[in-house]
Amino acid sequence: MAVRARVALLLAILGVLACPVRGADYSDNEARVLILGGGAAGLQAARTLHDAGVDDFIIIEAADRVGGRVANTQFANMNVELGPTWALPEVSRTVDLVRQLNLSHRASDYDSLVFRADNGADVTDQTDPLYEVFGPAKEKLGLLRDQMKADSDIPDMSQRSALRVGGWIPDTALHRAIEWFDFDITFGDTPETTSTKETEFIGEEYWMTDARGLKEIFGAVAGFLDAPEYANHTRLNQDVASIDYQNDISVVVTTRDGTRYIGEYVLVTFSLGVLQHDLVDFVPDLPEWKDVEINKFQMTAYTLVYLSFPSKFWGDEEWILHPSDRRGYYPGFFNFQAAGFYPNGTPLLLALITGDEARRVEAQPSADTKAEIEAVLRGMYGDAIPQADGILVTDWNQNPYTKGAFSNFPVEVTTECFDKLQSRVHRVFFGGEATSYGYFGTVDGGLRSGEREADKILECMEDFKACPIAVTQSLECEEAGSSANGLRLNAFLANIMLGLILIMLYV
Ligand SMILES: Cc1cc2nc3c(=O)[nH]c(=O)nc-3n(C[C@H](O)[C@H](O)[C@H](O)COP(=O)(O)OP(=O)(O)OC[C@H]3O[C@@H](n4cnc5c(N)ncnc54)[C@H](O)[C@@H]3O)c2cc1C
Ligand SMILES: *[C@@H]1O[C@H](CO)[C@@H](O)[C@H](O)[C@H]1NC(C)=O
Ligand SMILES: *[C@@H]1O[C@H](CO)[C@@H](O)[C@H](O)[C@H]1NC(C)=O
Repeated sequence: MAVRARVALLLAILGVLACPVRGADYSDNEARVLILGGGAAGLQAARTLHDAGVDDFIIIEAADRVGGRVANTQFANMNVELGPTWALPEVSRTVDLVRQLNLSHRASDYDSLVFRADNGADVTDQTDPLYEVFGPAKEKLGLLRDQMKADSDIPDMSQRSALRVGGWIPDTALHRAIEWFDFDITFGDTPETTSTKETEFIGEEYWMTDARGLKEIFGAVAGFLDAPEYANHTRLNQDVASIDYQNDISVVVTTRDGTRYIGEYVLVTFSLGVLQHDLVDFVPDLPEWKDVEINKFQMTAYTLVYLSFPSKFWGDEEWILHPSDRRGYYPGFFNFQAAGFYPNGTPLLLALITGDEARRVEAQPSADTKAEIEAVLRGMYGDAIPQADGILVTDWNQNPYTKGAFSNFPVEVTTECFDKLQSRVHRVFFGGEATSYGYFGTVDGGLRSGEREADKILECMEDFKACPIAVTQSLECEEAGSSANGLRLNAFLANIMLGLILIMLYV
């Protein structure tokens, strides 16, 4: 026994020596950790590794900038966000960072609104009796969720079913506008698809008004990467084509320009949309248990359309809602001139569009979108209104590096199965907002997932045998709790074994 242990120890030492001796400049494209994607998740993962004293990583990013879906631009002399417009939830690192950095923001006021019909009538008063039904229906939905959370034997149901249980039957245009303004605008999807159990509205939502953009928070997360000595830790314009994890001790990542990177651990933070569209080739293919969960989760479409006008012809309310017979047809506008935002800025309206309408709008020329919105606004405000003098349409759904806006928890995924989304497959780890339980669909979910996976990788560097992985690597799902115990026990046993071996070596 002692002899065998000695041999094992010798092999371990040889293994360490056999590692290629690398220059510290990373110019050989090798690092212990390859972080694929430089959005919230990738940047936070880099930070967590750095804080643990591990700078042996390279971030590989397809775009010509980091930040991912958090991005802003100039439009009509104003700063506008292209992705997230709100910092949320109220209690989160994202909001903490916004406050720390003094980025200007303002809590959204969803009571400051007007509903305007296609014939120009202000129908806001007519919504009162409808809200009297909608409010209690949402409360019922919350109660059903509480029951599901308390008892795992109670199955999930769609938000649509839960609202119906609460007495909400949205059979008029006004009903649908009210519903869109609560549900679709938040989850990016209709209540038909969305889980009741796994989704919640929490606290204030802070609309970003800072000219520097929400992306400024990444300076606080991973500003150390801007130092010259870290120049080779971030590779931009590197579009990952394949991830080869056949080898037991390393993973090879190849980009579309043929550059090869080698790492011991690879963290994939690409959006769910990118993974669902098979834009990255895994070699071998991901196992079925992983692939199925990736494809069951939901990637939403959410399009922002900014329109600038020579003059303001709308009121002072923050939100302008448009009841339409066609659900989701330019359902809502944010008013940049509302009190507390940019009262003196260029007259801007932002149309928020979700789901199938977002997919349709993104696929058509922006001139068509402009004409459609102008027609809607003429119906609401009369024929005398000016034409828009500028339009900006976001393209997250078309963009090959996002393929959608953000993820949403669908009814068919269970709490237990969700665990598989964030499970590693050999040495390939998975982060990104979609893998963040309770925080999917948000910047904060991205940050949390980056920290979680970096911590996992650090743990695995210590002891790969105890490296966490989904309990059931099959189509069955088990409760996450039972797995953690199993793993901890294994790690415990492994430590005892190691202790015994060391004792025997000295005997
Ligand atoms: C329109 C819109 C509105 C939103 N609203 C909000 C909001 O109000 N509040 C909120 O908190 N969140 C919101 N979100 C969601 C939020 O933006 C995301 O959850 C978060 O930014 C995701 O971070 P991530 O790191 O997980 O992914 P990403 O930011 O997508 O980072 C992944 C990175 O991988 C890169 N990549 C992809 N494919 C490849 C490849 N093949 N090779 C190399 N690199 C690749 C991408 O370029 C990207 O930089 C919104 C998103 C959108 C689009
Ligand atoms: C980055 O890599 C290049 C070689 O590609 C090398 O010349 C340079 O010194 C490296 N920079 C740093 C800061 O390590
Ligand atoms: C934010 O504002 C506070 C109070 O005005 C100030 O003390 C602090 O230094 C500012 N922080 C940053 C990062 O600018």
